[in-house]
Amino acid sequence: MSHADDLLKQAKDVLAMNDRGNYTQPAHGLYPHQWLWDSCFIAIGLRHLDIERAKLELVSLLRGQWHNGMFPNIIFRDDSAYRRDRNAWRSWLSPYAPDDVTTTGITQPPMLAEAIVQIGAKLALPERRSWYRLLYPSLLAYHQWLYKERDPHGEGLVLQIHPWETGLDNTPPWMAELHEHLLPLWIRAIQKIKFDRVIGLFRRDTHSVPIDQRFSTVEAMALYDIQRRLRRKGYDISKILDHSLFSIEDLSFNSILIRANTHLRDIAKTLGEELPPELEKSIDKTEVSYEELWDPYSSQYYSRDFVTHRLLKVPSVATLLGLYAGTIPKDRAEKLVRLLENEHAFGPAYPVPSVPTNSFWFKPKGYWQGPSWVNMNWLIIDGLKRYGFNDHAAALRDSTLEMVRKAGCSEYFDPLTGQAAGAENFSWTASLTIDLLKTK
Ligand code: GLC
Repeated sequence: MSHADDLLKQAKDVLAMNDRGNYTQPAHGLYPHQWLWDSCFIAIGLRHLDIERAKLELVSLLRGQWHNGMFPNIIFRDDSAYRRDRNAWRSWLSPYAPDDVTTTGITQPPMLAEAIVQIGAKLALPERRSWYRLLYPSLLAYHQWLYKERDPHGEGLVLQIHPWETGLDNTPPWMAELHEHLLPLWIRAIQKIKFDRVIGLFRRDTHSVPIDQRFSTVEAMALYDIQRRLRRKGYDISKILDHSLFSIEDLSFNSILIRANTHLRDIAKTLGEELPPELEKSIDKTEVSYEELWDPYSSQYYSRDFVTHRLLKVPSVATLLGLYAGTIPKDRAEKLVRLLENEHAFGPAYPVPSVPTNSFWFKPKGYWQGPSWVNMNWLIIDGLKRYGFNDHAAALRDSTLEMVRKAGCSEYFDPLTGQAAGAENFSWTASLTIDLLKTK
């Protein structure tokens, strides 16, 4: 068997192992439920193996859609073993929550349009139309919700209210805000007397993954506190924004939104539908406002505080997602590629690190604070191709496959050594490996 066959088999086995019938869990034990953007990345790989199963992966997400249009980041399993997870969120407190399943009350980056289109690309036009027809109303409602609820001033960028909404859970720009401005007093007190070390002993997420590869306990407590506050406000955005909780126009989320909007327009066109004029206006605005996130001094994009419009100038892999967005000017795209080439920034031996290696925050195995993640690589490869950096795209594809071949389908990888980190047998690593093997 060739290297590529071996890798393909390994990746297929991981997806089969995590298959729960109508959806795929991200990883056994640590992530047992259905996650929103995970299922999108998973469907992108599954389409090469079994197109009907790939469709089902996305159709299963519709169970969780809220009546106001939101797709939650998690749909919980209903077994009694997971009562604690469901109770932590109590989605039933919101009048908009679905009746038959329990979910969280927050969303995740809008990868759905991409996954729908990637499946569509495998279908002949009549089947593609029926496929789009099935998903279009839900997708449209989701994009409308994103603007109505998350762009309350009509400025074009959408805001996020919890770091989990970015998908890059403990990414430095958000954690810097947390430590500087948002750490509740009770948590500061615990930190001061170092009691967090004792509390850390009781964490469930560190049973299978070492604690230094996850959130710090102080951060985990703070995120739990924020989640509890969202719950107390019944996930009502007007009440949430009245108080000083997180409200950040996140760079990775908005980059993915721009691409998703482009896909939504294509889907509508294929169906002969017109998007509502309000939505069209918002979409145009996002592409323009996105450029306000550019910082000419450091030649990078950053996330922004929703209220003050202050750029959160802490670098992370999100800066490279402008390539994936696909609407940034060519000269800015070139500047981003220079960062990718720089071995002291985003170009170590096993790219792309979630934080540049010369950053104060960089920890090679620190979850979203250093490791390379295959989903980020997939997005960046896609973006590089769109801007004509085909050699860079091919090199990143090869190094990504090499990393997975050596270390297995892990959740993330040490960018300096390529070693595995986080959960083993992680579904999106497997599915996107399949996609990278099957497409050039
Ligand atoms: C972690 C990741 C998030 C992912 C989830 C399930 O929380 O940070 O992006 O969706 O795990 O895999």
